[in-house]
Amino acid sequence: MTEKTFQSPKKRGQIAVFLSGRGSNFLAIHDAVIRGDINADISLVFSNRKEAPGLLHAKKRRLKTLYLNPKEFKSKEDYDEEICKQLKKRDIDLICLAGYMKILTPGFCNEFENRIINIHPALLPSFPGLHVQKKAIDWGVRYSGATVHFVTASVDMGPIILQAVVPVLQDDTEESLSNRILKQEHKIYPESVKLYFEGKLLIKGRKVFILP
Ligand code: GRF
Repeated sequence: MTEKTFQSPKKRGQIAVFLSGRGSNFLAIHDAVIRGDINADISLVFSNRKEAPGLLHAKKRRLKTLYLNPKEFKSKEDYDEEICKQLKKRDIDLICLAGYMKILTPGFCNEFENRIINIHPALLPSFPGLHVQKKAIDWGVRYSGATVHFVTASVDMGPIILQAVVPVLQDDTEESLSNRILKQEHKIYPESVKLYFEGKLLIKGRKVFILP
């Protein structure tokens, strides 16, 4: 059987950022957009939490924001369908999950196949899920890091775009390790988005090749 392939588009893209919290990765991506490092605009910042600090940052930066209350929808599927409609209206090319604390439905993931990416604060496939900095410390690993990956219906398991490694020190707390990892997140997430719109990401099966 031949492997499925996909090459990211070389174009000026429209990005939607999804977040639920503080939004430091969103800010890192937006800063890179402002610097002209990324050939795209952030056309929408979406949240499932009205009070997300990241949403406030987006408003201050005069970006379009959207909040949808999950409680006003009958099911997760209905919720994601509404988001999908909103994205289609805006011709979104790429969704960047940046601390979005809701699992996307398989239907949504399939609708936007190869067009959703996420950042995870560990070296996948080690430590998927939540509280992974603490899990890395508790396990006693010497190194952890961050992973940017494509999002598929299998949570935290999609093809890996970039990773950064940091040491885990003996006296690390969850906070100190999280901060060390976060610094790397702010580098590899904008870099991944940049590569995406340079048309340099080629997915073959579950591997991502970075084209010269
Ligand atoms: C980051 O640690 C990211 O890896 C994880 O959620 C956190 C979001 O942080 N997915 P921020 O909201 O971008 O500051």
